[in-house]
Amino acid sequence: MIASDDFTRFARAIEHRLGLRVESDRAFATAELIARRAAAHREPIANYLDRLDADQAELRALASELTVGETYFFRHVEQFNAFADVALPERMAARERVNVLSAGCASGEEPYTLAMLVRERVADPGRIGIHAIDVNPAALERAARGRYSRWALRATPSELESRWFEVDGRGIIVSPAIRAAVAFEERNLVDDGVLWTSDRWDVVFCRNVVMYFTELRAKEVIARIIYSLAPGGFLFLGHAETLRGRSDELELCHTHGTFYYQRKPVTHVRGPVVPAATAQHEPIATDSNWFAEIQAATERIHAMVDTALYPGTSATASALRPLDHVRELLGDERFVEALACLDELPAALAIDRDAVLLRALVFAHTGRLLEAEAACRGMLESGELAGAHYVLALCRESAGDPDGAAYHAQRASALDPSFAMARLHLGLLARRAGDRMLAALELARAIVLLERESHERVQLYGGGFKRQALVELCRAELAKAAS
Ligand SMILES: C[S@@+](CC[C@H](N)C(=O)[O-])C[C@H]1O[C@@H](n2cnc3c(N)ncnc32)[C@H](O)[C@@H]1O
Repeated sequence: MIASDDFTRFARAIEHRLGLRVESDRAFATAELIARRAAAHREPIANYLDRLDADQAELRALASELTVGETYFFRHVEQFNAFADVALPERMAARERVNVLSAGCASGEEPYTLAMLVRERVADPGRIGIHAIDVNPAALERAARGRYSRWALRATPSELESRWFEVDGRGIIVSPAIRAAVAFEERNLVDDGVLWTSDRWDVVFCRNVVMYFTELRAKEVIARIIYSLAPGGFLFLGHAETLRGRSDELELCHTHGTFYYQRKPVTHVRGPVVPAATAQHEPIATDSNWFAEIQAATERIHAMVDTALYPGTSATASALRPLDHVRELLGDERFVEALACLDELPAALAIDRDAVLLRALVFAHTGRLLEAEAACRGMLESGELAGAHYVLALCRESAGDPDGAAYHAQRASALDPSFAMARLHLGLLARRAGDRMLAALELARAIVLLERESHERVQLYGGGFKRQALVELCRAELAKAAS
C-alpha cells in the first residue's frame, strides 16, 4: 500500500530530476510502479524513495518507464519543410559549421528525418552536424539499431523511403549513410551541462517534450535552449508548446503552414538562470495561455452540455466521458497516456466494446501487434465490427502481410461503406501492390468520404493526421498512382 505522502515524494523527485509531471489521476499506475521498483531493490518504500535523490541507475530505469516516446518519420512534415527551405539555408549562409539538435529524440525518427533532408538538400552535408539526445536509454538503443515498422514511415514520401530505407525482413532499416549522420547521446534536458553553452546550436528541434514537464521545468529548459541558440538560430517546438509573446528574444515565424521561432540576430539573452522559487507557480509565458483559455472554454461548454444531459450531477466532463478523453489522447498521439487511462477504467467499462477497440488501437500504434490482434479477434467472435477489422488491417500491414491487411480493410469498408480511413488504406495497399487503377479508385473515394467523416473518427483512426492532411495525403498518392 502506498501512502499519499509517498506518492507526493515520488512525484517531487521525478519532477526535480526528470522534469516530468506525475499526474494525480495516474495514482494507481504510479503506486504500482513505486511498489515494483522498491521490490526490485528489496527495500521498504521509504528507503526506495530516499534512493531517488542520487541513484543514477534508478533514474535511468524510471526514465524508461515514465517517458512517452511516440514519434514517427516526417512527423508534422510542414515543420521539416520549413527547416529545409528556411532554417537550413539561412544558417548555412551564416556560418560554416551548422549544429542541429534534436532534444528528446525518442527512438530516432526525428533526427534521422533531419539527416535525410540535409542529404536531399545540401551538396556538402559534412557541414551539418546532427546531435540527438534523450533521457531514455531504451529509446536510444532502438535509435541506434535504426530498425522500424512500416507504420513509422506513414508520413514518409515514397521517393525518400526508397532512397533512405532498406527492407529488412518484416521491418525497415535506415540506410547506413543516414545512421552515420546522427550522433546520439544519453542526456537529461533538466541537467545543466555542456549542451547549453552560448551560441552552441543553429537549429533546435524540441518537439513534444516539454508538454510532459511541470511548468517550472518547462520554463527552465526553454530558457536554456534559447540561451544556447546562436543569434539567428531557429527553435521548433511541438504544436501544443508555442511560446508566443514569451520575450523579445525570439521571433515567431509563420511559413509552410506552421510556426517556429528564430532568435533575433543580435539581442541580449539572459543566462540560463534557474527561476526563483517564488516563480514556481507563475504560468509559463507561452501560447499555452490562449491554448489553456480555449481548453477552459471547451470544458465549460462540455460542462453546460453535461448539466443539460445529466441533470443533478456535478461530475466533471472528463469523469463523465473517460472514453472521450482516451480518444483525444489518441488523436494527439499520446498513446502511453491513453493506455494508462484505459488501465484505470472501472472493470465494467473496461470490457465495453468501445474501450476494447480503443485498447486495440493503442496496441497497434505502439507496436504491440500480437495484443492488438488478439483484442480484435476477441471482439469479432461476438460479431462483425468495422473498427476491429480496420485495426487488424493496420496490424497485418505492419506484420508485412499486405493480403491480410487488404482483406481486413475490405471487410471494414463492406461493413461501413462510409469508413474513409479503410478506403484510404485500401488505396495505399493497392498502390504499393502496383494496381494503379484500384489505387486511384479507392483514393478518390477516400477523399470524398474524408470530407464527410466525423471529427471523432478522424481523430481516432487518422494516425495523428488531421482531416486536411489526410486529404492531401490521398491527393499526393493519387498523383503518384496516375503518373
Ligand atoms: C513524445 S517523444 C517526442 C519525440 C520527437 N521529438 C517527436 O516529436 O516526434 C518525447 C521524448 O522526450 C524524452 N524526454 C522526456 N524527458 C526528458 C528529459 N528530461 N531529458 C531528455 N529527454 C527527455 C522522452 O524520453 C521521449 O523520448
